[in-house]
Amino acid sequence: MILVKQEATNKENSSCIYLIDKKSKSKDFDPQFSHSIAGIIAGTKKFDYLRLSNSFVFFVFDDQKPEELRVIGSRIHDMICADCEVISISGKSKNSCFLAEGIALTNYQFLKYLSKPKKHTLTEIILSDEVEKEKIDELNDTIKAVFWARDAVNTPVSDLNALQLAEAVVKLGEEANFQVQVLEKTQIESLKMGGLLAVNKGSIDPPTFTIAEYKHKKALNKKPIVLVGKGVVYDTGGLSLKPTPGSMDCMKCDMAGAAAVAGALYLAALQKLKLHIIVLIPATDNRPGGNAYTPGDVITMYNGSSVEVLNTDAEGRMILADALSYSMKYDPEIVIDAATLTGSALRAIGTEASIIMGNAKNHYFEELEKAGNEVHERVVRFPFWDDYAKHMESKIADLKNIGGPNAGMISAGKFLEHFLKAPYIHMDVAGPTWLDSREDYKGQGGTGSGVRLLYQFLKNHSS
Ligand code: BES
Ligand code: ZN
Ligand code: ZN
Repeated sequence: MILVKQEATNKENSSCIYLIDKKSKSKDFDPQFSHSIAGIIAGTKKFDYLRLSNSFVFFVFDDQKPEELRVIGSRIHDMICADCEVISISGKSKNSCFLAEGIALTNYQFLKYLSKPKKHTLTEIILSDEVEKEKIDELNDTIKAVFWARDAVNTPVSDLNALQLAEAVVKLGEEANFQVQVLEKTQIESLKMGGLLAVNKGSIDPPTFTIAEYKHKKALNKKPIVLVGKGVVYDTGGLSLKPTPGSMDCMKCDMAGAAAVAGALYLAALQKLKLHIIVLIPATDNRPGGNAYTPGDVITMYNGSSVEVLNTDAEGRMILADALSYSMKYDPEIVIDAATLTGSALRAIGTEASIIMGNAKNHYFEELEKAGNEVHERVVRFPFWDDYAKHMESKIADLKNIGGPNAGMISAGKFLEHFLKAPYIHMDVAGPTWLDSREDYKGQGGTGSGVRLLYQFLKNHSS
């Protein structure tokens, strides 16, 4: 794991970054570089560099947006990752942190299945004494939480079934000091969570229902914030089987919502936010095996509603519905779910953002949008008119589990809304949580998207 710190170590291969204020004079720099500074300041580039015998000196203009700095950090990482162990950044507090964040998140690698891994050499980012210690701690915790979520998403179902996902959350709780209770199949049966049990019927692995609770002694919210994450550890589509290429092959990512809410809780607890937060993760794989649930089945859900199954690939809403109904026992201030729920969300806005919708008061949406812009995990609000609920009407049950051909991401949200009576925001994260090919510091494969967004939302909400 890369570490951001302040005191320098004398490791051999090190490079450095100067964050240049336009007002800087060349005399502010090491005399050996000062001759190049004037030229760089006069130029229009966003960053420039000198290549020395076995290291680099980078010059980055300070007057750039946070996201531009993260992306520059990522490009700098690409240039140094083959042989540099340490990079130091001199410059103003906030902006050097954005650069460090971009560099550190780019340093992520998923190597556990490679027999001859080519490891990045970078192990440390050194920031100047001007940067507050708390900021550095927050950055290190953020990196840890995002890497945890990426690892969880990248790990195939052969090594991360529902039980293993639950155990991974238990470990987070032990480290960051929050309570985790894992309900096993017999308990899920006693609770009559029909949606979760139906999806699990084709699997030989049992389902789990994980309940994690973090409560600061001086929590500012009287009622808890409940975060629910879709934990489908693999989605074959079930009997409504998905085609393989470009569709089923990346479906180990179908627990990215669970990874996002667990990662955000982990980070919130490490940072000791003054909040009361509960995370619920219903988890199972979705397979067409043995006694798999079938199109045509009518399922009695945890809250007693009946659902006609018309497509077993619409399984996320089946397991989330039970978790959302279960959340009512906490009398929550707000319930937010994160779920890789629909292909239509991905098609509508691509990997660039998550879609949000719901019935919570406007200020919650504004807070989420603000947090999303701050960390560049953006969200786009979609309509949530009651007209869309009609898409989910069944002739023989209270609801059916698929809507019409259009606006599938919204009708899915309306289906979920049926199962709770509390202010609610549904977040479809199918787009940004997985990347088929690499995009700067977000990497390739699991991005950990949602962790920084939800943490920033929680942090802003607690101050
Ligand atoms: N897990 C998928 C959605 C998904 C698609 C996530 C692409 C990430 C990338 C979900 O369970 C699903 O299959 N949804 C169906 C619903 C449909 C059958 C109503 C879909 O979107 O096609
Ligand atoms: Zn599915
Ligand atoms: Zn799914």
